[in-house]
Amino acid sequence: MIYLDNAATSFPKPEGVYAALDRFARTSLANPGRAGHKMALAAEHALDDARHRLNRHFNGRSPDRWVFTLNGTDALNMAFKGVLNDGDHVVTTDLEHNSVSRPLVALAEAGRITLTRVPADAGGTVDPAAVAAALTPKTRLVAVTHASNVLGTVQPVVDIAAVARTRDALVLVDAAQTAGVVPLDVQAAGIDLLAFPGHKSLLGPTGTGALYVGPRVHLRPWREGGTGGDSSTPTQPKEFPYYLEGGTPNVLGVAGLVAGLDYVEEHGVDAIRRHEVELCDRLRASLAEVPGFEVFGHADPARRVGTVAFRCEVMPAADLGAILDQSFDIALRPGLHCAPYVHRALGSYPDGLVRVSPGPFSTPADIDHLIGALREVTGGI
Ligand code: ALA
Repeated sequence: MIYLDNAATSFPKPEGVYAALDRFARTSLANPGRAGHKMALAAEHALDDARHRLNRHFNGRSPDRWVFTLNGTDALNMAFKGVLNDGDHVVTTDLEHNSVSRPLVALAEAGRITLTRVPADAGGTVDPAAVAAALTPKTRLVAVTHASNVLGTVQPVVDIAAVARTRDALVLVDAAQTAGVVPLDVQAAGIDLLAFPGHKSLLGPTGTGALYVGPRVHLRPWREGGTGGDSSTPTQPKEFPYYLEGGTPNVLGVAGLVAGLDYVEEHGVDAIRRHEVELCDRLRASLAEVPGFEVFGHADPARRVGTVAFRCEVMPAADLGAILDQSFDIALRPGLHCAPYVHRALGSYPDGLVRVSPGPFSTPADIDHLIGALREVTGGI
């Protein structure tokens, strides 16, 4: 199979991830911190090590500010539901995934918050000046994706954070499409909340994710329960990260996530991104030569991660995706990509687009195979 759906989840994982999962499951899979025995301590140590690794990778304030979650959506819900109060105003963008937009729309429809959605330009970039214009005295949070999961366009989050901070709003960045391929220093960037899954460009397994909670944020837990440490208090211990981590964490997944991070740091974030963007540009160049295809997003590769979205005039995205899968064994994602607002803005709603997202193990031959298949399916256009 040719797998070109890494924006949904990365596959394959580095060999080190498979090995780490196997090793950890066989030797250390106790309940972290729930008992004083050696294996529980080893599991707790693995979580602690992972928090240090994430803190160093993203330059957070301290390791205990990193909370493990089930995925990006879990981290985002934890942030929204823990930080927003009745009457707050939130600024977000047209580029957001449903993991951002659905919880916010639900809060707005319940009359809890008001919401402003800032449009992107035609290439898929949000102007920080437009965010500034949307701020009101009630704006508590600016929530923005770091890169569109449809177009791959990287957003000017440092400038957006700067304008938000001039009005004392908190800044949340959804790094689902960038963690592991775009360097980010959360302190220098002025980011208060950073949410991401571990299973995309960090190359870890599904069921992993994290939320960084900066020092300006007071977050209520939206899930309470056992923390393994102080069992005597009737309510959740206030100590980070346990305050936000009720229940047994996915320590096996986190062990795999650290192995994914090992690969990313060994090969380099910039080199991995360059490889993926070059493969996208190979596809873009081929599609530009044939009539009948329309490619979306900024042409400048410096403004993108490794994701390309296109329309085929002779066939709906869903049909093309199904044929590529069934007849050519090529996996990619057609449709709306859980991001309906950007498709409305692009004029690709409701059919959506075909999205191609190579990963670190994709090759030029994979792209050439896709191009050949596209020519064959569409009659050699
Ligand atoms: N958020 C994932 C995607 O963009 C699932 O495909």
